[in-house]
Amino acid sequence: MSTFNSIPRVIISHSPTPLEPMPRLSSLFNHNLYVKRDDCTGLAGGGNKTRKLEYLVAAALANKADTLVTVGGMQSNHARQTAAAAAKFGLNCKLILEDVHGTPKSDFYHNGNMLLDKLLGASIHRLSDEQNCTEYAHNLMTKLQNNGKKPYFIPMGGSNPLGSLGYVHCAQEIVNQIKEQAITIDQIVLATGSAGTQAGLLAGLIKAGVDIPVLGICVSRSGNEQVKLVSELLAQTLTLMGLDPYLAEGRVVANGHYYGEGYGIATEEMIEAVRLCAQHEGLILDPVYTGKGMSGMIDLCRKGYFSDKPNILFLHTGGSQGVYAYQEIF
Ligand SMILES: Cc1ncc(COP(=O)(O)O)c(C=O)c1O
Repeated sequence: MSTFNSIPRVIISHSPTPLEPMPRLSSLFNHNLYVKRDDCTGLAGGGNKTRKLEYLVAAALANKADTLVTVGGMQSNHARQTAAAAAKFGLNCKLILEDVHGTPKSDFYHNGNMLLDKLLGASIHRLSDEQNCTEYAHNLMTKLQNNGKKPYFIPMGGSNPLGSLGYVHCAQEIVNQIKEQAITIDQIVLATGSAGTQAGLLAGLIKAGVDIPVLGICVSRSGNEQVKLVSELLAQTLTLMGLDPYLAEGRVVANGHYYGEGYGIATEEMIEAVRLCAQHEGLILDPVYTGKGMSGMIDLCRKGYFSDKPNILFLHTGGSQGVYAYQEIF
């Protein structure tokens, strides 16, 4: 058993990230809406993966690794931030990036995150959406090891218990900012995918003894499947922190009604949400995660789902670089 503060971490993110009101968006939906700006974590455009990488890079350095290897979709924000962290710490970076069925194509392969990955010096292994990413990663790791390299593998989205610890810090920041700004938050909403952000955030709230409910809007699977994924990771994260995993009971909530036809495939509601935030708050969301997360929050506000929760905080997890890959749908 280890305690949270003894787990090695490198500092990469600009933090605390701001927690700001969204007055013009609030007036549209009859709620006090706030945003936690984790799109401003600072690493090559920022986003939620920067916090996870603080623990994952520390582990790679402790293992004397010379190469970071990770996997994701072709416009993965996680891949971009991993490439940037590798550059910052003098490590090589291998990105195994899958094509994503149903996404726009003209800029998808070259612009947005793909452009930045190349600028950051990562080497890219492009896979079709039929190739097996896990098997490819395993073979690449073996090949690098056989060539005398010391690769460190980071799972999809940086979502393992170690990576999730990054979001324990975000939870602590939110708790502090609520106090400093003398505001009330009744509900937190975020986009949830590989689950580490929601799991880490809940672990941090549990650690702080704060019971604000957290709603994950799914970007790739049903609510039930997502609850299972987040719950398992949350229990493992609490265990890693030396806390009782049963504290997770009843805390994981996810809604799978807003991702449309699949991961990365645009919905009309996402496009509306991205436009509304841009044109009312000067806030740029992304098409794959935060746009869909915000579309869920907006729809649930309109339907009165939060009628007993006037003060809602949206966690902006970054990804605005992705809009350049999706310009044809905007
Ligand atoms: C911008 C953005 N928001 C949200 C998420 C989802 O976070 P998680 O995978 O930890 O659930 C991601 C993951 O890649 C992301 O890039």
